[in-house]
Amino acid sequence: MDRLETLKSELLSAIDGAADMAALEAARVGALGKKGRLTELMKGLGELAGEARKAQGQALNQLRAAIEGALAAKKAALESAALDAKLAAERIDVTLPPRPLAQGRIHPLSQCMEEVAAIFGEMGFTVVEGPDIESDWHNFTALNIPPDHPARQMHDTFYLAQQGEAHLHQGALVGESPERAVRLLRTHTSPVQVRTMLSQKPPIRILVPGRTFRKDSDMTHTPMFHQFEGLVIDEATHMGHLKGCLIDFCRAYFEVDDVPVRFRPSHFPFTEPSAEVDIGCSRKGGELKIGAGDDWLEILGCGMVHPNVLEMCGVDSTKYQGFAFGMGAERISMLKYGIPDLRTFFDADIRWLRHYGFVPLDVPSLVGGLGQ
Ligand code: PHE
Repeated sequence: MDRLETLKSELLSAIDGAADMAALEAARVGALGKKGRLTELMKGLGELAGEARKAQGQALNQLRAAIEGALAAKKAALESAALDAKLAAERIDVTLPPRPLAQGRIHPLSQCMEEVAAIFGEMGFTVVEGPDIESDWHNFTALNIPPDHPARQMHDTFYLAQQGEAHLHQGALVGESPERAVRLLRTHTSPVQVRTMLSQKPPIRILVPGRTFRKDSDMTHTPMFHQFEGLVIDEATHMGHLKGCLIDFCRAYFEVDDVPVRFRPSHFPFTEPSAEVDIGCSRKGGELKIGAGDDWLEILGCGMVHPNVLEMCGVDSTKYQGFAFGMGAERISMLKYGIPDLRTFFDADIRWLRHYGFVPLDVPSLVGGLGQ
C-alpha cells in the first residue's frame, strides 16, 4: 500500500507540475498510457489471487479515478489559463483611435462633398437630395426647356427604355401628361429645384449634392459625374446675394483669401440673367495653381431663377424671386487637390486612393480648417 501511496503522490505531482498541454499529456501517458506505471500495475493483477487480487484491484481503481480526476481538473485549469492569456493578448483599448485609420482613406469626391456641405451649411443651407431617375418634365420642361427647345440637345441624355404606349400611360400618375412618364437619368441636379419648390413654401435655401449623367466620355468627361445645386428663394433676393454667396464659397473652399472670381454673362433657360463663374489661376510650368495668375477656369453656372420656372413650380413670381447655381463636384475637387485626370476618380485604384484620399474621421468644418 505504501508503494501505491508513493506512486499516487508522484503521479499527482507530475500532473500538478505540468506547465502546458504537452506536459500534461506526457504525465497522462506516464500514468495511464500503454506502458504507463498504473497500467503496468493493472497488468500485474492477473498474477494475484483471491482477496489480495480484489483488494489490489480496488486500490488500483481508486488510484486510477484519482489520477483521471486530477488530469481533467488540470486540463480545465490549463485551458482557462490559455484563454485568459489569449484574451489579455487581444485586449483592445476602445478609447484609442481605431487602427484602420492608418490604412483606409476617404475618396476625394466624398471629401469634397463634405467640405462643400460644411461651407453652405454654415451659410444656412439645408442639404436635400432627389432621384437619379427623373421624369422628362422635372429635368427639362419645368425648367423652362420645352420639348422642342434646342437646349435639350446640349444635354446628351440617357433615356430609359419605354415599353410601348400602354406602359407610358400606366407609368403616368392620374392627370399626368405622357411627358411626365418619360423617364431619363437626370442630366443635372436642377430638377431638385423643381421638386423642392413643389413641396416646400418659400423661403427656401437648399444645397443638392448628387449624381448626374450625360452620354459623354473622354479625358474631361465621364458618363456619370456629380454636381451641387444651390437654390435660394425668398422675397428680396437679388444678384448681389448670388455674387456674395458664391465669392464667399470660393474663398472658403479653395482656402485662398484673395482668389479672383469673375462673373461672365451666359445663358441657361432656367435662369435670367445667367452667368458663369470663373476663378483665377496660373498654369506656369504646366502646374495648375488656384489664385492670382493670368488665366481663368470655369467652375459653375448660375443666375436668377426664371419667372417661368417659379410659376411652373407654383411659386408666385410677383412676390418671390431667387437664385440658383450648379457646379461640377469632380471639377472643383480636381482643382483643389491637383488631380489631373477625371477618369481616375472612378478607376477604384487603391494606390490612387492612398495618394489622393483623406484620413477618416477628419471631418471637414470651417472651424477645424477644411482639408488639412
Ligand atoms: N444645371 C446647369 C448645368 O448643369 C447649371 C446651373 C444650375 C445653371 C443652376 C444655372 C442655375 O449646366
